[in-house]
Amino acid sequence: MSTQTQIDPQSVPTRTLNTGSKMPAIGLGTFGSDHVTNETVAEAVKAAIDIGYRHIDCASVYGNEAEIGAALKEVIDAGKVSREDLWITSKLWNDKHAEEDVLPSLRQTLADLQLDYLDLYLVHWPFPNFHAKGCDVDSRSELAKPYINENFMKTWRQMEKAVELGLVKNIGTSNMTQAKLEVMLPEAKIKPAVNEMEIHPHFQQQELYDYVVSQGIQPVGFCPIGSPARPERDKTAEDTVDTEDPVLREIAEKHGLHPATLCVKWAEQRGQIPIPFSTNPRNMAANLASVVGDPLTDEEMEALSKIDKNCRLIKGQVFLWKDDQSWEDLWDLDGVIAQ
Ligand SMILES: NC(=O)c1ccc[n+]([C@@H]2O[C@H](COP(=O)([O-])OP(=O)(O)OC[C@H]3O[C@@H](n4cnc5c(N)ncnc54)[C@H](OP(=O)(O)O)[C@@H]3O)[C@@H](O)[C@H]2O)c1
Repeated sequence: MSTQTQIDPQSVPTRTLNTGSKMPAIGLGTFGSDHVTNETVAEAVKAAIDIGYRHIDCASVYGNEAEIGAALKEVIDAGKVSREDLWITSKLWNDKHAEEDVLPSLRQTLADLQLDYLDLYLVHWPFPNFHAKGCDVDSRSELAKPYINENFMKTWRQMEKAVELGLVKNIGTSNMTQAKLEVMLPEAKIKPAVNEMEIHPHFQQQELYDYVVSQGIQPVGFCPIGSPARPERDKTAEDTVDTEDPVLREIAEKHGLHPATLCVKWAEQRGQIPIPFSTNPRNMAANLASVVGDPLTDEEMEALSKIDKNCRLIKGQVFLWKDDQSWEDLWDLDGVIAQ
């Protein structure tokens, strides 16, 4: 996978986190699911770095950190970038929330990625199933547990310890809702620097977005294009971002962009950090170029703000812990906090 297109990484905007760290305002997602091989994702990471990406969004559960680590080593050894040039995020999986598992899991990620430190480490989901060690992520785990703040704080203390140990520079949450953050934040010694959450034009989460920003937490938007290639097992068929949406199409056309690229541009301009996945260097380059290109007008941003359909793609059905639950219960906040 090679490409001639290059964008000066220095021209890519950054966001200053509540720790003072500067995080590149767009990253490359790496969830290949089961339709893209680990080797292809690793090739995509190398291509992305060649193009000018400096931010890679990883997770242990994606099962490809070893291949990505080899790719990172290759580009660093080749002198294309230094470790300090890169922003590497990873995430603690749900079966590693137990106090004794957090640091070993982080150390495994560091070993796989062949790094001494991460720029950002996230708790991937607020629903632990740490007593189901090694559970199959594809199947519904009857041992998953609701969010219980006291337990989450034990996990978070270990995340804070990872910062103290110099293993990670920043820590954050992912898939957290306002109700959970409201009980978690007062107890955090180190506030989350980011909350990674699903955001695309058809699922803008304005209320949560505003709350997160009001707390000095940077929103990172996953599935910025609505994850069009994700297999059915990971989403619900009727809900995909409609790139045929007339508003998206019209504005995209005006700017000479593919509607998918417009989703990325809108995301960055709105303020969240989009992390589009792609294995196609042309698409990667278009996405990166869009954030350094001419801004959308206020009217265009306003029009895009109105196409929200409150359409959540990643519903988390696999994390239900009772037979009579619906996926809405997972996001229906308070019911899952105080038990
Ligand atoms: N924290 C969490 O719980 C969580 C959950 C889900 C995802 N994530 C992260 O977010 C990342 C992104 O989400 P995602 O991978 O589900 O979906 P996504 O980024 O919304 O969509 C990726 C798809 O869009 C296509 N695409 C990308 N750029 C394009 C362009 N310019 N034109 C046309 N098509 C384009 C890609 O195809 P090509 O390969 O052909 O370009 C790929 O099939 C993940 O990889 C992962 O790192 C985090």
